[in-house]
Amino acid sequence: MTTPTDVKRICCIGAGYVGGPTMAMIAAKCPDIRVDVCDINQPRIDAWNSDELPVYEPGLDEVVAGARGKNLFFTTAVEESIAAADLIFVSVGTPTKSYGIGAGRAADLCYIESAARMIAENANGPKIIVEKSTIPVRTAEAIRTILAANSENGQFQVLSNPEFLAEGTAVEDLEAPDRILIGGERTPEGDAAVESLVRVYANWVPRERILTTNLWSSELSKLVANAFLAQRISSINAISALCEETGADVDEVARAIGSDSRIGPKFLKASVGFGGSCFQKDILNLVYLCDHFGLPEVAKYWNSVVTMNDWQKERFSTRIVKTLFNTVRGKRIGVLGFAFKKDTNDTRESAAIYVCRDLLLEGANIALYDPKVPVSTIRADLNYVGISDEVIDKQLTICDSAVEATKAAHGVAVLTEWDEFKTLDFDTIYDNMFKPAFVFDGRNILPHDELRAKGFEVYAIGKG
Ligand code: UDX
Ligand code: ADP
Repeated sequence: MTTPTDVKRICCIGAGYVGGPTMAMIAAKCPDIRVDVCDINQPRIDAWNSDELPVYEPGLDEVVAGARGKNLFFTTAVEESIAAADLIFVSVGTPTKSYGIGAGRAADLCYIESAARMIAENANGPKIIVEKSTIPVRTAEAIRTILAANSENGQFQVLSNPEFLAEGTAVEDLEAPDRILIGGERTPEGDAAVESLVRVYANWVPRERILTTNLWSSELSKLVANAFLAQRISSINAISALCEETGADVDEVARAIGSDSRIGPKFLKASVGFGGSCFQKDILNLVYLCDHFGLPEVAKYWNSVVTMNDWQKERFSTRIVKTLFNTVRGKRIGVLGFAFKKDTNDTRESAAIYVCRDLLLEGANIALYDPKVPVSTIRADLNYVGISDEVIDKQLTICDSAVEATKAAHGVAVLTEWDEFKTLDFDTIYDNMFKPAFVFDGRNILPHDELRAKGFEVYAIGKG
């Protein structure tokens, strides 16, 4: 295949936070292409076909509703979809390995491998395979090897097309991306496959924003982009600790340095720590790669971004305990927010998980409110970090509102920057709390001076 394929049918394996929204946008922008989004998880597919989508993203309901049943289909029929597709996105999860070689650092590629085997078994003609999942560099080669060894009639081109959308703004990011990155083999066949995918995106993305590279540059760029972003947060968080000692204000420092056009203002918000499915996983992956290629100094450099993030989370919970007179045993602490950032129901690696774990282990009673995260997710996340059901049943209460979570509390901690927390009725909250009434703002979103004027004792990240 040296001429580009006119893509008419797309199959996406994996209907998660990346696959679902990305395919919905492609379907919405390319009415002539039929898009099947497949998953082995039946309840997840049922949810995509219902009015309550499994992924909460502002604006996503409308995009899905506009295309679903026309040229967008959510299905568990992975085999048939693979057979019918010209182009197959692989968008399965790649969590950090929790066992064996590379545990805690390398990406677990078991889902990628099973997807590749499924493609090999069901492909009956030439296919373009597109890696969408974030994967370690040179995964394309593994996919290619599996395909070649398991397929008699398949002719495959493997591309890398990492997704840069951020959760909470997925629809905006997909609608007007800063760039689309497509990596392919530098051969006539590879170039034709790249051009086929370029033409899909060119339906709505200006050509100059579609970058093409070799496979390995594309794979590596995704890890590096996330490592640079996370590094900025760890850098400002490191400075937040220094600000607290010196009386400088971290937001003022961020504004001052961010006005330098070489530094830029974005991603300089000090916080209780970054979370999300990507940053930590991708850095650990990068660290593993560097070690693997005999570059321990480079590995150590990037690993410090994660170390700083862990320290920031721990520093925050320690601060709560110290402030509450060195003990939180039996005290009620209102926790506002559990998602790793606002406007998402995703909690993967959320700082809130670790702060809540630390407080529960100190014997605190937590009253928690998050507008979007279901109770089952909160319980599963806490179980995962070693908190037993017994402790959860005894010490954790899930509340229906922020005000309820702060009732009879000794302290209130803001862990996610949900907009509704900025405009709470703090007079009522103050009246209902034990005195002194402590507020720990892990996101620096509250009006601190106003709160102090009402009588609260306020701790804010990076504010002396
Ligand atoms: C990130 C990348 O931004 C995206 O390009 C990539 O595709 C996936 O990983 P995401 O994890 O969805 O996206 O969210 P992001 O907005 O990057 O935030 C990550 C974490 O950093 C959140 O916990 C957020 O609260 C925190 N953060 C972000 C800060 O603490 N300070 C900031 O200034 C920015
Ligand atoms: P991401 O944030 O990368 O989208 P998620 O975990 O939200 O990750 O989604 C990945 C999805 O891929 C899950 O819903 C999972 O069930 C699905 N999945 C994993 N392996 C396969 C497979 N072989 N076939 C179909 N779906 C798969």
